[in-house]
Amino acid sequence: MSIRTNYETWYEGDTYYWGLEPGDFLDELIDLCPPAPDKKVLDIGCGEGKDAVYMAGKGYQVSAFDLTENGIRKTLALAKDRNVKINAYVDDINTFNIRDEYDIIYSTGTVQYLFEENKKAFFDKIDQMTKAGGIVFFNVFVEKPFLELPPDWDIEEKMWKSGELFTFFPDWKIERIDEVIFEDHSGGKPHFHCMDTIICRKMM
Ligand SMILES: C[S@@+](CC[C@H](N)C(=O)[O-])C[C@H]1O[C@@H](n2cnc3c(N)ncnc32)[C@H](O)[C@@H]1O
Repeated sequence: MSIRTNYETWYEGDTYYWGLEPGDFLDELIDLCPPAPDKKVLDIGCGEGKDAVYMAGKGYQVSAFDLTENGIRKTLALAKDRNVKINAYVDDINTFNIRDEYDIIYSTGTVQYLFEENKKAFFDKIDQMTKAGGIVFFNVFVEKPFLELPPDWDIEEKMWKSGELFTFFPDWKIERIDEVIFEDHSGGKPHFHCMDTIICRKMM
């Protein structure tokens, strides 16, 4: 892959940049769509694989992709270490092709890397790739006029408008919609983020 991002560098070492604790919402997704040998999960922008490997350990068939070769190398290493199978590969959210259909599609901290002109096509693909009855999870940082841009904001990232994420799922059953403001100390300076989260089910 020819694009080299900051993440490629951050993921170079042996330590896990995002740690190894699974994401906050995974157990909620597991309750909404419990594991079974034929249930498939896709993690989009999986980073170094902590969430994808956690889901594989719960008994799902897991696929995961990320733009970084180092992230995928570490995802596969973590899966081997935890003795689970995972289908992890390098791909780009802006250009990927559909490979399968899934019961859970999960993507945390990544859709702000979608180019504006690709948003609709991306969510059309999400619709096509989700099985009827399946669950999706997305979150995204959103702009608020009273919040400053975080000090470590990546120039490749694009803040979304408040509520915009929710507009891509008008025909789905909403299981959770959240907008939260929280304090963060990354980049060496305390600052606030606003984040929108959606969990919803494709009914038909
Ligand atoms: C904030 S990190 C989140 C990583 C992971 N989901 C986690 O929670 O540990 C954002 C991830 O998006 C990936 N990313 C950035 N641009 C991407 C793109 N165009 N296609 C696929 N992944 C991308 C980065 O490499 C990075 O791993």
